[in-house]
Amino acid sequence: MARIPQSFIDELMSRIDIVDVIDARVPLKKAGHEYKACCPFHNEKTPSFTVSQNKQFYHCFGCQANGTAIGFLMEYEHLTFPESVEELARSAGMTVPYEGTRAGDKPRQTSREADDLYALMQQADDYYRQQLREHTGRQQAVDYLKGRGLSGRIAAEFGIGYAPPGWDNLLKKLGSSAERQKQLVTTGMLIEKDDGKRYDRFRHRIMFPIRDRRGRTIAFGGRVLSDEDQPKYLNSPETPLFHKGRELYGLYEARQVLRQIPRLLVVEGYMDVVSLAQFDIRYAVATLGTATTADHLQQLFKVTSEVVFCFDGDRAGREAAWRAMENALPVMREGRQIRFLFLPEGEDPDTLVRQVGKAEFEQQVARAASFSDYLFNRLSAQNDTASIDGRANLVEQARPLLAQLPPGVYRQMMISQLAQLARIDEHRIETALSQTKPPRQRGEAGERQPDRAGERSRQPQHRRGGGQDRQPFSPVRRALARLLHNPALAPEAGDPQRLAQLEIPGIDLLVTVLETLRHHPNLTTSAVIERWRDTEYARHLEKLAAWQPEIDDEASLKHEFTAAIESLDRLRLEARYDMLMTKSNHGNLTPEEKVEIRQLSSQLFH
Ligand code: CTP
Ligand code: MN
Repeated sequence: MARIPQSFIDELMSRIDIVDVIDARVPLKKAGHEYKACCPFHNEKTPSFTVSQNKQFYHCFGCQANGTAIGFLMEYEHLTFPESVEELARSAGMTVPYEGTRAGDKPRQTSREADDLYALMQQADDYYRQQLREHTGRQQAVDYLKGRGLSGRIAAEFGIGYAPPGWDNLLKKLGSSAERQKQLVTTGMLIEKDDGKRYDRFRHRIMFPIRDRRGRTIAFGGRVLSDEDQPKYLNSPETPLFHKGRELYGLYEARQVLRQIPRLLVVEGYMDVVSLAQFDIRYAVATLGTATTADHLQQLFKVTSEVVFCFDGDRAGREAAWRAMENALPVMREGRQIRFLFLPEGEDPDTLVRQVGKAEFEQQVARAASFSDYLFNRLSAQNDTASIDGRANLVEQARPLLAQLPPGVYRQMMISQLAQLARIDEHRIETALSQTKPPRQRGEAGERQPDRAGERSRQPQHRRGGGQDRQPFSPVRRALARLLHNPALAPEAGDPQRLAQLEIPGIDLLVTVLETLRHHPNLTTSAVIERWRDTEYARHLEKLAAWQPEIDDEASLKHEFTAAIESLDRLRLEARYDMLMTKSNHGNLTPEEKVEIRQLSSQLFH
């Protein structure tokens, strides 16, 4: 298979100008160092789509779309990677050289592997649907669905199927070769025991296919037919195709049916989504047994401007709501609405809509509390706003929350509201906020909660760090962000290999980027990003490349970069010191190590 050499991509990235590429399709306006436009990837009235000529990178603060010129053409013109490269090369008067090396087959192969997995999931999907029509025990499944009020049409739209009883139905149907069986294990359809035996994950269950944005089936949820069986719901585990913290059940289906989506309802269960659809409320989506993540919200706000969370009225529901609110803070801004609907205790959207019907249900949705009302009402309920102490406490509780709001009109309005409520001057709050560090984000970008298949978890997902520096960055990310801002900083870091021993998240990426820049000192930011296209690093690099310094002058960037590298060096020395101290406690230091430990201690503790 032909491959485009990396050196050509590097060269291409330095020859073309992303500003021209985008401007020819989406007219840009110069704004300071950068160029701006209304984002072509989501609806907006004020421009938050930004193109950086320095970095040769675009980024939208509204929907978080970002990428290089190649990425832009892929998204905007729906081109494949080679097609985008061809197009850019043509405009730069260059010819794309293709290589036919074996090693070059690799990227193709990985995508072919993924293609195979998608195809397999489609076959599983077809199989379950066929079983719902043809299996001898189908009647029980059909009756169950009818009993839940579903018509054949809605069941078909959502692709609902039936996994018959038995340990090896799917195994026999699709696992014709060892390789296919392995793929079925990879996609979570088969479970492999320690002794190597494999069996069907889903047995005697109603099957809900989970589809990605493009409508491909990437996972399943399976429900028992009788409430005595356990667990009630069983979901596919995390697989190469399925990351549950990112997917939303029903979003694809909603987008198929609706052209405009003025609002989306976030509910808890598969049956809630399907049942609402049965009542012609086509704009419900469900998270898959996890809290709503910032990632989810970004996706939702790409297609709608209003998100209404539907929660049970019980304690668990109230807690889930508060967590959803916390996760939403970093993505709140003017033009985006989030509201909270609490259902009567003991009801869920499915039972409620069946009782009250579409019109009444929608009226309840219309009365849902706004984000700010919800937040401030809850804080006011916890504090006696008639007393000074109570109001001071309220400000203290609101502070870390409001500090997470991105700068802008929305944040300003929230500050005003808090000021009124607490009867204190707005400026005082602003000062307090500027001194508030947002709560430490747990987990590096991309880290995910371990999945416990079939178990409901209402734990909050790790919040992902956004591209902006209001997130407390680890030294690794601080270094990477500055490096991507200006790749010429690389030599300031010295020999990257010494950092490789550090056992902290992201260090591999930092070291490889530094190494690459040592060997190719003239790479643009976009060329760096292109090198890691289609790898697990791509997302991190893109997010970090979107970072913008508050003060954009060379000296301070360099200072911040070297300071981040120094922190890493310090961590490295501390680790070495700890190691030697442990060894010394066992009394077996060599004379050289004794000297070293003394040096380290004076370096670290002077
Ligand atoms: N869930 C899950 N694993 C479980 C239970 C629930 O993943 N063991 C998720 C599923 O996505 C499910 C949602 O949580 O759709 C709601 O679960 P639950 O509140 O138990 O749903 P019910 O309303 O009781 O389900 P049903 O209406 O089907 O009886
Ligand atoms: Mn239910």
